[in-house]
Amino acid sequence: MEVRVSNVRKEFATFPALHDVSLDIKSGELIALLGPSGSGKTTLLRLIAGLEEPTRGQIYFGDQDASHRSIQERNVGFVFQHYALFRHMTVADNIGFGLKVRPGATRPSKADIRRRATELLNLVQLPGLENRYPAQLSGGQRQRVALARAMAIEPKVLLLDEPFGALDAQVRRELRRWLREIHEATGHTTVFVTHDQEEALELADRVVVMSQGRIEQVGTADDVYDHPTSPFVYGFIGDSSTLPVKVENGQVWVSDRPIGLPITSGEPDGPATLYFRPHEVDLLDDCGGCIAGTVVASRRVAGTRRVELEIGGGRERVEIELPIEHAATQKSRIAFRPRRWKVFPTA
Ligand SMILES: Nc1ncnc2c1ncn2[C@@H]1O[C@H](COP(=O)(O)OP(=O)(O)O)[C@@H](O)[C@H]1O
Ligand SMILES: [Mg+2]
Repeated sequence: MEVRVSNVRKEFATFPALHDVSLDIKSGELIALLGPSGSGKTTLLRLIAGLEEPTRGQIYFGDQDASHRSIQERNVGFVFQHYALFRHMTVADNIGFGLKVRPGATRPSKADIRRRATELLNLVQLPGLENRYPAQLSGGQRQRVALARAMAIEPKVLLLDEPFGALDAQVRRELRRWLREIHEATGHTTVFVTHDQEEALELADRVVVMSQGRIEQVGTADDVYDHPTSPFVYGFIGDSSTLPVKVENGQVWVSDRPIGLPITSGEPDGPATLYFRPHEVDLLDDCGGCIAGTVVASRRVAGTRRVELEIGGGRERVEIELPIEHAATQKSRIAFRPRRWKVFPTA
């Protein structure tokens, strides 16, 4: 099912939790809403679910305006971080619950519900656990059952709000891979909320980066990592280094010298900030036009060396990543140029 969020604003009392959010979700797509705490991810998910109504704007399911439809009418399945299973029900009864409470004519027979629960348990790779109680499952197993329960109603859209948030890192990584496999097998349109960039980049077809109630950027993992369109996205996704610069005569300047980065996308003249990834730099011997600095700190990070350089007489510092073989001796001079970079005008 295609879902279209169109110019949605959501206020709580007078506080705008979402400003003016538009998003097209394609049928069968796995979308991650990624952003820091308080950026509006859960609010957007609850609006899509029908747990909240927009203050302004519409939400379409296919061609139909679903903005004021109930969660049942929208037929969505959801899993929340702490959306606990029913403790007094077996795993099979938990999974079958959404089918069992359907009104007479649409309710499958007991045997069919049971069959469906078994099928779903196989799908989520927990065969044979029908008669267990939630207390007899690990955290990861419970969230798998919660997903099976959400899928039992054959939802048009699956909504997952930090479903692995309470689990430890190792289990999270396993479940991530597992969820991707399930998604490929079932093809549900899925919206997944997370504040964990690794989770979002690894899982999603497209990532929606959110900040302060706004969508900052929508794109594939490669798009948002390699071509961030705002300082926020640059800083939030992956490591970034920044340096105050100025833009003048079609060049980027540091301390009154052009550094060999020509402006090609029309950034305006004036003070700006240069952004680049610490590992996307070329070292240079001779620095006619590049960034040069003095090593003030160096530390080993896994297989590489992180080096802090003092630039322009000590006023600025910048971090770059070098091969582990590089000595990066204290006070030695290193010249480099970012391979991939962007400047944003200083606000
Ligand atoms: N029911 C509510 N009443 C008042 N404010 C809320 C409510 N729900 C969320 N907010 C506020 O809206 C903002 C976005 O919240 P939320 O969507 O939960 O963010 P996220 O899921 O990204 O952490 C936060 O500032 C939060 O305090
Ligand atoms: Mg949230």
